[in-house]
Order: sequence, then C-alpha cells, then structure tokens
Amino acid sequence: MPETHNCSSDDAPLPKQSAAGLSRRNFLSTLAIAAGSIGLTSIAQSAQAASKKYKVCATKDVKVGGASSFRVPAGKNMMVLITQPKKGVFRAFDQRCTHDGFAVNSIEGKNLICQAHGALFDMDSGSVRRGPAKRSLTKYTVSVEKNFVYVTIKN
Ligand code: FES
Repeated sequence: MPETHNCSSDDAPLPKQSAAGLSRRNFLSTLAIAAGSIGLTSIAQSAQAASKKYKVCATKDVKVGGASSFRVPAGKNMMVLITQPKKGVFRAFDQRCTHDGFAVNSIEGKNLICQAHGALFDMDSGSVRRGPAKRSLTKYTVSVEKNFVYVTIKN
C-alpha cells in the first residue's frame, strides 16, 4: 500500500481566484507578448514587474519524494505546494485543485491527491493523472538560492 502523507491541515475549499485577478493576469501576459513582438521593451518590462519572487521555505523543509504547503503573501495569502520529486529538484504549484478549488492535500507515490473527489496530479509536472480534474495544477517558477526555495508568482 502506498505511503500517504497529509501536507495540509486545511479541509475547506480554498478561495477561487477572482475573475478580476485572472483578467488582469491574462491582460498582462498578452501585453508582454505583444510588446515583445513589436519591440516595445518598456511595456514588456512593466508587465514582468507584476511578477514577484517570494522566499517560501528552506530546502530541508520538503523531503525528497514529498510535498509541503506554505502560505505565501501573494494576492489573498495563497497556499503553495512545494514538491521535491527528485533530490535537489523543486516544483511549486497552486494548492487549489483545478476541479473545484479544494486543497490538494495528500501524496500517494509520486502523485499529489485532492481528497475532495479523488483527483491525482503528477508531483513533478502537475499534470492530471486521474480526474475528475481536467486541467494541470497551476505551476510557478522555482529557484533555489543558498538552501532556500523561492517562487515567482504573477500578481
Ligand atoms: S476539488 Fe479536487 S477532485 Fe474535486
């Protein structure tokens, strides 16, 4: 039987992103692409400035083959799942399940599980291994500096 770990004590659904936040993010992404394609670098730099890098945890806080959740002061204090699928390789995902917004809160083998309705996600890529979720977990850029894990999130 695969080992299962809880990586969050939250059972309640996490708040969904506001339509206004998504619209702004989509707008900034589109703006950055458009600006880059026509050579307006100052507009692209403004769009990139909307991203912020957060120090999330120490590398020792996440076991190899494990995951832990951390609160990040982005937006309305979002929860980020940090995984370490292989030694020294860290990934970061929005903890909200793409099916219905509950917290992805367990691990089974190399998969993250949302126990609300049983969706499975790959801990390396965030891709769906089993529904009912149809979309991958939202993935963030991770960097490791001096034994700390940083995540870049667009505001
Ligand atoms: S909310 Fe995650 S499987 Fe339904």
